Amino acid sequence: MRVLVTGGAGFIGANFVHSTIAAYPEAEVTVLDKLTYAGNPASIEGLERVELVVGDIADADTVDPLVKDADIVVNFAAESHNDNSLRDPYPFIRTNIEGTFRILEAVRRHGTRLHHISTDEVYGDLEIGEPRKFQPGDPYIPSSPYSSSKGASDLLVRAWVRSFGIEATISNCSNNYGPYQHIEKFIPRTVTNLIDGIRPRLYGTGEQVRDWIHVLDHNTAVWDIIHKGRIGETYLIGADGELSNLDVTKLILAEFGREPDDFDHVADRPGHDQRYAIDNSKLVEETGWEPHFKDFSAGLHDTVEWYKTHEEWWRPQKEAVEAKYAKQGQ
Ligand SMILES: NC(=O)c1ccc[n+]([C@@H]2O[C@H](COP(=O)([O-])OP(=O)(O)OC[C@H]3O[C@@H](n4cnc5c(N)ncnc54)[C@H](O)[C@@H]3O)[C@@H](O)[C@H]2O)c1
Repeated sequence: MRVLVTGGAGFIGANFVHSTIAAYPEAEVTVLDKLTYAGNPASIEGLERVELVVGDIADADTVDPLVKDADIVVNFAAESHNDNSLRDPYPFIRTNIEGTFRILEAVRRHGTRLHHISTDEVYGDLEIGEPRKFQPGDPYIPSSPYSSSKGASDLLVRAWVRSFGIEATISNCSNNYGPYQHIEKFIPRTVTNLIDGIRPRLYGTGEQVRDWIHVLDHNTAVWDIIHKGRIGETYLIGADGELSNLDVTKLILAEFGREPDDFDHVADRPGHDQRYAIDNSKLVEETGWEPHFKDFSAGLHDTVEWYKTHEEWWRPQKEAVEAKYAKQGQ
C-alpha cells in the first residue's frame, strides 16, 4: 500500500505518518510538503518506509505523478492558522482551494482514492451554553478566510465526487492537541511559555469553547473512515472534549504547579468564534471508532511531558514565535 500524505511534515500529518507506519507494516508513505514555516522535516526524520518530497500541492506537475503512484491520498496540506489568514488571506486561497483542486484533478485522472481532511470551523460557531452540536449536514457559514477556504475545498471535493465519480471521503475535525504541534498554537505556546517561566497569554476573557481531541484519536478516525466510510460522505470527528480556553489554561497551569490565575489577558482575535462542538454519532455508528483519550487531562498530561522532553524540536522556533506575538501585542 502506497500512501501519499500531503502536509505530512505538519502537526496532524506528521502524527498520521508515525501512526501509519506503526500500524501498517506493508505501507510505504510518500510525504508531499512545501515545508512552509509550519512544516518541520524533523517531525518525520529517520522514519523507515517514509520518503519526503518537498513541493507544492498547487503545482499540477508535482502532484500528478505522485498521485498516479499512490493507492490512496490523504490531504492534510493547508495553511491552517486563523490569525495568519486575517493578515494575509492569499496563501489560504492558493493552498487550500487551488491545491485541493490540483489534487482532485490528479485523482480524477488516475482513479486514486482520496481522503480530504477538513475542519469543523466551516460550520461557523455555536452559542455558548446551547445544547446543539455541529451535524454533518449543517450549512457552511465560515467566519474567517481560513475556514472559508477550507469550506471551499470541501465543496470542490463533493462536486468532484458527484460530477466525475471520484472516490473520496471528507472529515471535519475539532481542535487537535498533541505532539509536534507548532508552538504558535494555543496549547503548545502556553506549555512552552511555562517551561520558559513566561506567564501564559489568553485571548480576551477565554470564555470561547473548543471541542478538544488528541491528534492520535483524530488519526485513528481517519483510518476508520478510509476503511469503512462511504464514498462521498462527510464525517465529523470529535471526542466530546468541550472546554473553554480559560479552563484549558488553568489545567495547563496546574500541570506546572502554578496558581490558576497566573496568566495575562491579551486583546481578543477579531471575529473570534464562540463555541465549536461536534456530534460524532455518524462516525461512531458507521465505523465503530472510539477515542483512546476520553479524558482531556490525561491527554494533556502526555502532551506536556512530550514538550518537556522534546525541547530540541521546538526550541529553534521559540524566540521568533514570541517576537512575532510581541509585535502584535499578544
Ligand atoms: N490543528 C487542528 O486543530 C485542526 C483541526 C481540524 C482540522 N485541521 C486540518 O488538518 C489539516 C492539518 O492541520 P495541521 O494543524 O497539521 O496544520 P499545520 O499548519 O501544522 O501543517 C500544514 C502542513 O502543510 C504544509 N503545506 C502548506 N502549504 C502547502 C502546499 N501548498 N503544498 C504542500 N504542503 C503545504 C505545511 O508545510 C505543513 O507541513 C489542515 O487541513 C487543517 O485545516 C486542523
